[in-house]
Amino acid sequence: MDVKIIDFEVMGDERGSLIALEQNKNIPFEIKRVYYIFNTKEDVKRGLHAHKDLQQVLIALSGSCKILLDDGREFVEFELNSPDKGLFIDKLIWREIYDFSENCVLLVLANEYYKQEDYIRSYQEFKNYIHRVKK
Ligand code: TYD
Repeated sequence: MDVKIIDFEVMGDERGSLIALEQNKNIPFEIKRVYYIFNTKEDVKRGLHAHKDLQQVLIALSGSCKILLDDGREFVEFELNSPDKGLFIDKLIWREIYDFSENCVLLVLANEYYKQEDYIRSYQEFKNYIHRVKK
């Protein structure tokens, strides 16, 4: 599956820690959009969609959450709980995000602007779509 954990270099000194994110360097695309998810209520599941073209990197800046990824062939679950780890998710991967800790701030970097037409919001439609484009 086209997903991977990216280990960010932590530049630390006696004052604390710092991580720099740079497009086409430790982030494997051009960064066009950044958003963050916070104040997530208990028992909420977010995501529940795939993207036709968008690539993203998710980073839990604070707290933790779990992410289930599904490329139509296999499932894989990740827990993000450290600001020095990023989860790269390629296009055409169904994602569900859950088990948010109360203090979770999930940063998302994306390689495109927000486009409603890029979303596939039905799981059945996702399965049909990948069957069409990947065969
Ligand atoms: P939504 O797509 O439901 O978030 P998720 O699928 O990650 O749980 O987004 C919530 C709202 O925010 C929805 O009205 C669309 C809007 N939105 C933007 O305007 N720009 C963005 O970049 C994103 C990610 C969402």
